[in-house]
Amino acid sequence: MTIAPVPRVGIVVVAAGSGTRLGAGAPKGFVGIDGHSILRHSLERVFRAPAAQVVVVVPAGREGDARSDALEAARDRRDLVTVVTGGSTRQESVAAGLAALWGDVEIVLVHDAARALTPPEVFERVIAAVESGRDGVVPVLPVVDTIKRVEGDDIVGVVDRSALGAAQTPQGFRRDVLEAAYRAAAQDFTDDAALVADAGHGVAAVPGHPLAFKITTPADLDRARGLVVEAPIAPVASRLEHDVAVPRVGVGTDVHAFGGDGTLWLAGLEWPGEAALSGHSDGDAVAHAIVDALLAAAGLGDIGTHFGTDHPEYAGAHADVFLARTLGLLGEAGWRVGNVSVQVQANRPRFAARRAEAEAALSAALGGVPVSVSATTTDGLGFTGRGEGVAAFAVALVVRA
Ligand code: CTP
Ligand code: MG
Repeated sequence: MTIAPVPRVGIVVVAAGSGTRLGAGAPKGFVGIDGHSILRHSLERVFRAPAAQVVVVVPAGREGDARSDALEAARDRRDLVTVVTGGSTRQESVAAGLAALWGDVEIVLVHDAARALTPPEVFERVIAAVESGRDGVVPVLPVVDTIKRVEGDDIVGVVDRSALGAAQTPQGFRRDVLEAAYRAAAQDFTDDAALVADAGHGVAAVPGHPLAFKITTPADLDRARGLVVEAPIAPVASRLEHDVAVPRVGVGTDVHAFGGDGTLWLAGLEWPGEAALSGHSDGDAVAHAIVDALLAAAGLGDIGTHFGTDHPEYAGAHADVFLARTLGLLGEAGWRVGNVSVQVQANRPRFAARRAEAEAALSAALGGVPVSVSATTTDGLGFTGRGEGVAAFAVALVVRA
């Protein structure tokens, strides 16, 4: 199994609010600034920050629109996109985003989609501060106006503005700290930093940015419109989207050596009495080759991206788990599987008697997609010929759903 680096950073982009104060007749994230929505502009900048899993949280029914925006912004990192449904408060929406983070994520940034023009450098600053050992980090801008304390019609005092900062997002946290604070939260907080501070953690400030202002009112949207005229989003000419009508193929191979514990698992079947293969999971080279072929066809990376050895939840898992999850990944990215063909090279086990059974098992794990299994020996040549292990080669065909 190849191991691609899985990001240590996750960015939860919350866009599940209704945008009442903007009053544009649509949830705020889906209101256009220019030809592109507020969410699309936010994500454009999120994907120019260091590589991270990006969890986009949107109102129920808007998941498809959000996915299109996110996949376009992600360009060749479509594998980093996750879309989930939000809740009735911002805090619930953030919690829904946290629940979708991958196992490897250690640093979490929470960002308001409404801060659509936040430059990538702010993300970099926040990540660097968490990496340097801070539990929580907030970008702040100095307050420029003189601040008065007002009661009714009366000015009753002046607040020393040098002691004040206006909090922005993305706010960054150690994942364990943020998750524990969310579990413990017994009330609604105005932002994530307040929630984490209430749980007893120190929160650091880093410089914010004037462009990280939140689009709240129609005047804010006008300001954003004026600013993006200067810097529109460049059109995306994705190599994956050159013609949606053309099916795409992917190839995958895998090799495992004999020498594992227990019984052999191959092509989704248990083979009592046969020598087991070694590997992080059950060593099912046939299933792993199919996973790689499917991910390659959809342009979603490879098996290491999604199921590497740093995903302990897949240790010991069998083909059905890998294949069902892969099918889910493709479905979320808008792909449907046409068929899969896989060939095994091995002296043992002998497939002839169980080929139909293997095809049925693999097909069932892929929701009924046709899977053809063929097997061959290699005339005594190579590691398969010497009986040291098993090789598998798969091809998959996918089409736009
Ligand atoms: N948000 C969210 N889920 C909610 C409420 C808010 O994900 N239930 C998000 C918004 O989409 C926004 C961010 O939190 O990106 C900041 O909230 P705000 O600016 O208040 O946005 P809205 O709640 O959409 O606007 P309004 O309060 O005017 O309705
Ligand atoms: Mg709101």
